[in-house]
Amino acid sequence: MPTYVPDSKMYRIAPSILSADFAALGEEVRSVIAAGADWIHFDVMDNHYVPNLTIGPSVAAAIKPHCVTASGDSVPLDVHLMVQPVDDLASAFAAAGADLITFHPDAERHVDRTLQLIRDAGCQAGLVFNPAMPLSILEWTIDKLDIILLMSVNPGFGGQRFIDHTLRKVEAARKLIDASGRDIRLEVDGGINVDNIARVAAAGADTFVAGSAIFNQPDYRQVIDAMRGALHGS
Ligand code: DX5
Ligand code: ZN
Repeated sequence: MPTYVPDSKMYRIAPSILSADFAALGEEVRSVIAAGADWIHFDVMDNHYVPNLTIGPSVAAAIKPHCVTASGDSVPLDVHLMVQPVDDLASAFAAAGADLITFHPDAERHVDRTLQLIRDAGCQAGLVFNPAMPLSILEWTIDKLDIILLMSVNPGFGGQRFIDHTLRKVEAARKLIDASGRDIRLEVDGGINVDNIARVAAAGADTFVAGSAIFNQPDYRQVIDAMRGALHGS
């Protein structure tokens, strides 16, 4: 496997609040930021594109004021839309305070228009690829992307097992990003934990979503520190 070594400062850990305590979401967001989270990953499911239903723009607006470090730096709100259609909700999440919005290209007819809509709303824009989805659409979209998100599970639920062929896809996406010469983040989502995060990084990813691996443990800092240790080879 080729080993991709980005500047280690480039790594971002994005806890998915899908596995947080929904009855105490603001507190959970503050705790995981205090524990070292770089981004907050916000999973939106509509019981249509995926067989599950989660949280909408009003919840994003409610947690946005909590997305800040103790020293006052804001922590990006990374909204992953698993919805169909996309456009109206993308606009609503931009208005609610999303910093990044990603969507599945197979969920929207006019992908180029949706990317433009997200960027025009002042957010970073990205496409999400399910495990069986080819990367071919990148040929005609990469110029409008700030982020590429590869699913390493089938979307809809936390706590699933990492699908290994994602590693080859990460390598392929990394090559396309490097060839584009653009500053595009490569994020991976699903089944990431302390044991496999270094392999995902070595394949070329720089941003890591982790839900159950963090929120199902009592000490978030311990998990995030262990992930950083694995990323930095210690
Ligand atoms: C799945 C979501 C993921 C999920 C990851 O559809 O997009 O963000 O929360 O959870 P884990 O890390 O438990 O696989
Ligand atoms: Zn997600």
